Amino acid sequence: MSAHAILGSGSYAPTRIVTNDELSQRVETSDEWIFTRTGIRERRIAGPDESTSQMASAAARAALADAKLSPADIDLLIVATMTPDMPMPAAACLVQTELGLSADTACFDLNAACTGFVYALDTAWAMLASGRYRTALVIGAEKVSSVIDWSDRTTCVLFGDGAGAVVLGSAVEGSRARLIGSKLGSIPATSSALMTPGGGSAPASPDAPKCITMKGKEVFKLAVRAMDDVAREILVAHNIAPSEVACIIPHQANRRIIEAIAQYLELPLERFFINLDRFGNTSAASIPLALDEARRAGRIKSGDVVLLVAFGAGLTYGATLVRF
Ligand code: ACO
Repeated sequence: MSAHAILGSGSYAPTRIVTNDELSQRVETSDEWIFTRTGIRERRIAGPDESTSQMASAAARAALADAKLSPADIDLLIVATMTPDMPMPAAACLVQTELGLSADTACFDLNAACTGFVYALDTAWAMLASGRYRTALVIGAEKVSSVIDWSDRTTCVLFGDGAGAVVLGSAVEGSRARLIGSKLGSIPATSSALMTPGGGSAPASPDAPKCITMKGKEVFKLAVRAMDDVAREILVAHNIAPSEVACIIPHQANRRIIEAIAQYLELPLERFFINLDRFGNTSAASIPLALDEARRAGRIKSGDVVLLVAFGAGLTYGATLVRF
């Protein structure tokens, strides 16, 4: 089987910054409560005219430029999102038009909530490995602010908007950069812990809230267990010791969740890339946004093994091991 690698990355964040202090003028909360419980200081919120597909397109353009490729090189486009512009067509089709991708590009959205990007990466990798596709754009993009109840202090302080993208293609000859492994899963019977109950086809849906509802403590415990388990599993499966991982890009939900995982894996917290203080939880955008920042900040060097690890509503979880 031919090897595939991440050839470039890009990201986009809306310009509007909403600080904890600003939120505390809208709901009964404080910077101190939010920061000590989550590590979040501020988040980016998309403007009223800004959509998920627009943010996705901006991130994708940056990823193509980084990979030194053009839209004509892409024949597969997956957008991981739980907040597409509309139920149909898929956000991917809107991005296709925006970027000018050709008509023989396979375009679809994938929803695995906050694990969406890791799921999309695995899906794209499998499609490339089949030999039927050549080069893929894999994007995580979310306008989470559109599914938030801004009067609910237990959820509105946690989330933000943004997008991140990577270009996936054949590994460059002579380079060690490649995708090493991937593991996906979903814990049954945990969906009520984190959901958007309304807006879908369920019988109770018309009256149910169209915003995120969450049992915070339950999600916290499930997230730590799922991310710790899947990180261990993938490292063992590929015979890589935790100490050999140069950088871990975890889903950016809560600093305390990341600290717990660092402790369980017996790794220094400095090995984890954290930007949730500035972006909050951007769901499927969180990992590609952090990955792109980490690369541009020089935190990931050629030859480094990087672990992406995520959890999200479902409760889905997943991990990817990549060498850059
Ligand atoms: N400001 C002030 N007080 C608040 C706030 C707030 N923003 N939110 C809740 N409180 C109050 C609660 O009402 C509660 O008050 P009470 O004791 O009088 O009932 C008190 O603070 C403590 O609330 P807890 O829920 O016990 O706080 P906890 O320490 O568990 O922290 C948190 C809550 C931050 C949500 C935490 O449970 C958490 O991070 N859970 C995981 C959430 C997560 O990662 N979600 C990601 C899902 S994203 C995805 O996959 C789509």
